[in-house]
Amino acid sequence: MTNSRVPGFHNLSRADRLARISDLTGLTHEQTAHLAAAGPDGELADHLSENVIGVMSVPLGVATNLIVDGQDVLVPMATEESSVIAAVCNGALACRDTGGVTTQADDPCMIAQVQIVGLDDLPTAQAVVQTQTAEIARRCNECDPMLVELGGGFRDLDVRIAGPFLVVHLIVDVRDAMGANAVNTMAERLAPWLEELTGGTVGLRILSNLADRRLVRARAVWPAAVIGADTVDGIISAWAFADADPYRAATHNKGIMNGISAVALATGNDTRALEAGAHAFAAQDGYGPLSRYGKTPDGDLAGEIELPMPVGIVGGATRVHPTAQAALTIMGAENADRLGRVIASVGLVQNFSALRALATEGIQRGHMGLHARNVAIAAGASGGAIDRVARAMVDAGTVREDLARSLLSGGQD
Ligand code: MEV
Repeated sequence: MTNSRVPGFHNLSRADRLARISDLTGLTHEQTAHLAAAGPDGELADHLSENVIGVMSVPLGVATNLIVDGQDVLVPMATEESSVIAAVCNGALACRDTGGVTTQADDPCMIAQVQIVGLDDLPTAQAVVQTQTAEIARRCNECDPMLVELGGGFRDLDVRIAGPFLVVHLIVDVRDAMGANAVNTMAERLAPWLEELTGGTVGLRILSNLADRRLVRARAVWPAAVIGADTVDGIISAWAFADADPYRAATHNKGIMNGISAVALATGNDTRALEAGAHAFAAQDGYGPLSRYGKTPDGDLAGEIELPMPVGIVGGATRVHPTAQAALTIMGAENADRLGRVIASVGLVQNFSALRALATEGIQRGHMGLHARNVAIAAGASGGAIDRVARAMVDAGTVREDLARSLLSGGQD
């Protein structure tokens, strides 16, 4: 077995690290050459992360047809999952006649938590901290004068009792940033002063991913004349299933996040922060769906979604990754507000398309057509053989690697 203790690994160059891993693990020559061929992305990756030996590339596609708040938008999406981008294109097309998606967004406020331990009288300490809002605002804003200049900064204080702890929430408008760095710095700087003020001891100082002060809401109407009256009823029933059953709600929300995380990844945003925020938000009153559907008085389908949107266009990978910059240009997102509104809209139309497929023909036919290509590639197809083998499997109603291999042995382009 490989010994995972590799002293000095971190200090090696990327090429030497790869050579070392190759030796240790028996990577084939082809595998090593593939990892080595990362090009300029490899150099960037080396700066972005640690112990880098290569890059894991993910397809970047563009979803068409979407209108958000009256403006057409082309949406770059990075995802390895077949049918995610097609679903957005189809869902967006089907609501164009009613103007596409309309959104509302909160100000971009993130929450930092400071945990205070060792207090005997929590209500008194809570009251003491609450009287200091102005001083806390001053101290927070002092940490980031640039943010204040841009119109952001401290907005609100929420002092909570959670179990045996006093928890101070700093609510900070982070403008175009995702905001983790800004609020974490404030929480850390404020900590010693909060200890003096309360007589307690500060524990953790970190943002909350339950970013419920930074919600975005999106709404769209899909005409019954476009999707069919039966489909309207089918989607409402599919939503009711998610509303009634957390096992279904988890899958319903996973589909929403298929779209949301793909745009987040394409734009260099923190997909895990979005996922954590979305699922925690969905669980606030018992885990449920992030979207809801009903019928308009005209019998059309109205869908809406609400979820936390901790995304930025400055800082982190977004700023330094040329693909993320290109993605923002394609999208025309000049601020985090627009980015968040587009992302929520993508989540909604993604969800609509999944429910439409599930409520009608089922997910597998559309999904399998695209999935079949992956299976064909896994079976060794290349060039024109990929489509030929994929089509043959779909026509046969069976998408399996053994079938792909036998179709391939019948002759490859
Ligand atoms: C698959 O990645 C996503 C779906 O399962 C979502 C859903 O069931 O709503 C199709």
